[in-house]
Amino acid sequence: MGRRSTAELGDRMTKNVVVAMANLRLVFGLLSSVLLVVSCVEDRHTALRSPQTPRRQFPEGVPSSVAPLVSRHQLRLDNGLASTPPMGWNSWNHFACNVNETVIFETADALVSTGLAAKGYKYINLDDCWAALQRDSQGNLLARATTFPSGIKALADYVHSKGLKLGIYSDAGYYTCASQPGSLGHETQDAQTFASWEIDYLKYDNCFTDGTKPEYRYPVMRDALNKTGRPIFFSMCEWGIDSPATWANNVGNSWRTTGDITDDWNSMVGIVELNNVWADYAAPGGWNDPDMLEVGNGGMTVEEYRSHFSLWALMKAPLLIGCDVRNIGAEILEILANEEVIAVNQDPLGVQGKRVRMDGFSGLEVWSGPLSSGRVVLLLWNRSSESANITARWSDMGIPNDTLLTVRDLWKHETISEAEMYEICQEVPSHGVKMFILTPVSQIYLKRESYSHKMD
Ligand code: GLA
Repeated sequence: MGRRSTAELGDRMTKNVVVAMANLRLVFGLLSSVLLVVSCVEDRHTALRSPQTPRRQFPEGVPSSVAPLVSRHQLRLDNGLASTPPMGWNSWNHFACNVNETVIFETADALVSTGLAAKGYKYINLDDCWAALQRDSQGNLLARATTFPSGIKALADYVHSKGLKLGIYSDAGYYTCASQPGSLGHETQDAQTFASWEIDYLKYDNCFTDGTKPEYRYPVMRDALNKTGRPIFFSMCEWGIDSPATWANNVGNSWRTTGDITDDWNSMVGIVELNNVWADYAAPGGWNDPDMLEVGNGGMTVEEYRSHFSLWALMKAPLLIGCDVRNIGAEILEILANEEVIAVNQDPLGVQGKRVRMDGFSGLEVWSGPLSSGRVVLLLWNRSSESANITARWSDMGIPNDTLLTVRDLWKHETISEAEMYEICQEVPSHGVKMFILTPVSQIYLKRESYSHKMD
């Protein structure tokens, strides 16, 4: 992908070291937190058990085992954006540099006609390769004349007329990764150009830098964007090399935690591991970004794409579609349009879910996180090559064993049970997930006339 400066090679080496350290951290995490995932004791759809102790109401607020370590209200970028993770589409994963204005116009149409826009996918983000290779005589960035002859403002106008928003891409270096001009040293001018085009979102990459740390270069563009007076979502893309989760919550609205995703299972799984390390740092206003979705690009099975999407939703990742939505198949559309899973991602509590239980290295895992109104999301993930039973106990999620819950299956769109349970055991296909919301029954009863009858 174009030229590589010495500084860039240095960045890449640092990135490798950070990835290796994150992997080490993961291994130690695994060794210290390995817990047995109990197999289903009988062949059953759902485990139902009577608690031995009197039932209690689920405590209000966040279960302790999945509570974030950081305050929900500490400093973060306060530009009024990103109260929930961004949703939309990005050109890179499918089109790379083969992007042009027709793709953008037609993608805007397709987001609306497929119903995806109405589900919340509102950003249309142009990635690399939109700009001319030279600035104009005043130093302004220009749209590439061959592929974007109408100019970027025309795209913004069209996208806005559909009720959508337009994102663009630049770089905290001298060139972008595909060698169009970068914004280092041109931050104020470029931010003003973006604002004059009515851009709503900037992805800011980290190629061809001057060798200084991202901590110095990214705040310059944040300040330049703020000075324009236009709210522009600031998506930092320094690939996690300087652990941005630890310092970027008052710099960007999201920060990449990993290198680039590719459209295969192993890449997706590796990225989940790296992103999970930083779970406690995500909060409304600033989110961990494990990269854009590959759902629909053809390199994974439908089951694997369902896992990919469920994990991104649970991890409060940006949901940026990376396939060609103009030619989307029914099965893929069903995944991306699943309102119940999207609602987990967009939950106003804004807590990133994480792994809470695993069966050694068998690949059977329980992931969870708190949601608003005392609810909890639960994901059973089978990373192994065989179908397997996975059990999650309420105690895995910090919920008292004797809590009465309903269990809503977000992929079957069924409520499994309102019975007293203290665990759930489900068969999960290889590379697949089962995803649920657990709701304390006391709240459900409060909504019903039968409350006093049911609680006696
Ligand atoms: C980097 C980013 C990618 C994409 C490309 C474009 O690799 O991480 O997401 O933006 O650059 O060149």
